[in-house]
Amino acid sequence: MTSTSEREILVTSALPYANGSIHLGHMLEYIQTDIWVRYQRLVGNRCHYVCADDAHGTAIMLRAEVEGITPEQLIAKVQAEHEADFADFKISFDNYYSTHSPENQKLAEHIFNICDAKGHISRRTITQAFDPEKELFLADRFIKGTCPKCKTEDQYGDNCEACGATYSPSELIDPKSAISGATPVPKESLHMFFKLPDFQALLEQWTRSGSLQDEIANKLAEWLDAGLQEWDISRDAPYFGFQIPGADNKYFYVWLDAPIGYMASFQNLCDKTDGLDFDHYFNKDSTTELYHFIGKDIINFHGLFWPAMLHCADFRTPTAVYAHGFLTVNGKKMSKSRGTFIKANTYLRHLKPEYLRYYFAAKLHNRVEDLDLNLDDFVQRVNADLVGKVVNIASRSAGFITKQHQGMLSAEVSEPELIAQFAAAKTIIGTYYEKREFGKAVKAIMALADTANQYIADQAPWAIAKQEGTGQQVQNICSTGLNLFRMLMIYLQPIVPDMAAAAGDFLNTKITWQALDTPLIDHQINKFKPLMTRIESTSIDSMLDDSKQELAKEEALKQKQAQPVGVLEADPIAEQIQFPDFAKIDLRVVQITQAETVPGADKLLRLELDIGGEARQVLSGIKSSYQPEDLIGKLTIWVANLAPRKMKFGISEGMILAASDGTGIYLLEPDSGAKPGLRVS
Ligand code: 2FM
Ligand code: ZN
Repeated sequence: MTSTSEREILVTSALPYANGSIHLGHMLEYIQTDIWVRYQRLVGNRCHYVCADDAHGTAIMLRAEVEGITPEQLIAKVQAEHEADFADFKISFDNYYSTHSPENQKLAEHIFNICDAKGHISRRTITQAFDPEKELFLADRFIKGTCPKCKTEDQYGDNCEACGATYSPSELIDPKSAISGATPVPKESLHMFFKLPDFQALLEQWTRSGSLQDEIANKLAEWLDAGLQEWDISRDAPYFGFQIPGADNKYFYVWLDAPIGYMASFQNLCDKTDGLDFDHYFNKDSTTELYHFIGKDIINFHGLFWPAMLHCADFRTPTAVYAHGFLTVNGKKMSKSRGTFIKANTYLRHLKPEYLRYYFAAKLHNRVEDLDLNLDDFVQRVNADLVGKVVNIASRSAGFITKQHQGMLSAEVSEPELIAQFAAAKTIIGTYYEKREFGKAVKAIMALADTANQYIADQAPWAIAKQEGTGQQVQNICSTGLNLFRMLMIYLQPIVPDMAAAAGDFLNTKITWQALDTPLIDHQINKFKPLMTRIESTSIDSMLDDSKQELAKEEALKQKQAQPVGVLEADPIAEQIQFPDFAKIDLRVVQITQAETVPGADKLLRLELDIGGEARQVLSGIKSSYQPEDLIGKLTIWVANLAPRKMKFGISEGMILAASDGTGIYLLEPDSGAKPGLRVS
């Protein structure tokens, strides 16, 4: 049951598309939201955090086609990856769902039907570009052609990457469908529109309700002043989404059912949680709070369409929408070639999640500005603060308590003022968390950590311990040190929850906000174990290298996706040859004995082969799919009589065989038991 003082809060982060991996830009938002949610729970509010994969739309339909699977298979596969990444980054969702769910379909239909019944849906025929081969309507990004301004070829339907011009797809010279390569033709179709202008007054009032960031309220006011347009909420088949009730082969536009996915995920949570009532949170007059954390690029959807739709369908509107800026890395837009477009799971192969959670927290504020992940500063800051300051307090105090006092803390508080000073900081630190000023919270916590370190340095228990009869004094100093450490870990819990849990285990106590008022006295603690290790800068280099390789694979898949679909089908079998031609090729089983990268070469690895008692060197373009160390010992097939080739990076003697589909490279391996030197025939 909820007590009267508890707030009831529902929080969401934007739903990631189910056709791509989570990267650190996404993680900024999930970490920001998660810190806020964990803070709310820590102080005793009833806070639910839901999210889902955004599973609909043309892009997902086409991606599934390229991968040769159904959209349902694609979204299930991607959702599993997303959920694993979020769990690894300690994102504490109460429910993670999909917009392709029965709850979402029901809610989307319900909202549409009410809006329609109230006269807020209009219908009219529009003309759009149509791909006559693929038989689908083409959004601007699926049309390519020559820029009408600077004549650069292969530009998207709405803007030119070369000269920056913006135009409509009909202005492109020689436009082609990016999906089939066919020339688009204009075609008419009946569309449905949500009559956003009907909600001008509601939106003017809602956007001035005081709970939006100033930048957002100003942007929304600009749009409101310019006059609102009706919003096209329908798409023609083929489309992966929900069919619009009462319309043939029309689907809801992905952005119609995406935010409804927040409600559907919560509905799904309510259905499996005793005492959690959907209506209580979404009724028009609900007293609960509803917050959406989003990126600055999607404020039109959350600040205009979404509150209008909710209101129209007699649901409550959001308490607030909190937008954040984009993530830059080393001061620049994330870049695939620099390796700074870092996927969540690439990061996790090299670094701990809490390093990033701490760094983001230290730099986060409640404004819509971009945030920079400076990798040198990241290493320095995490090492200096978490390891150098916070863990240091515990490691300098724990040994004396464990070795000289059987793990018992003093029976009384010897520094009541210092302890009270730390406890009193909860007001300001709590306010910073509540206002999403995490950087200020971290600064205040680290100032306390400095005070604690200064206290221990001034008291120097290691010096006192050398004198006779000072046991009590040393126990008091170290007990104070550990109590201060405990309070720091309570304050840091929303940011580094695992480290806080480990600190709780070490101190044999629970990490709760209430505990700030009750110091640990006459209390048994456990043996100290390091709670956080330093970041090695070599981990950063290997993460960037790994990232470059990962993204090379992704790029290859994208290229494939951008090709007309006809080209994606299996390569035709090459021209027939006679057996004597084939017999000229001398294929041998070989074993890779050494493998290394080639300085300056993006794609090549230098391999040393045992060809059956002799060694040969080949330069092989398989770097994007293999780590050198994983190749050593592998058997493969080698073309023995291919004339040596002099390449920029050295001589390649013959070649090894691999298959490739443009996304991955697969080295051919003989069955086990084959020995180097065996002839393949
Ligand atoms: O921009 C995006 O990545 C969208 N998938 C976000 C959807 S948020 C919500 F409205 F569903
Ligand atoms: Zn141009």
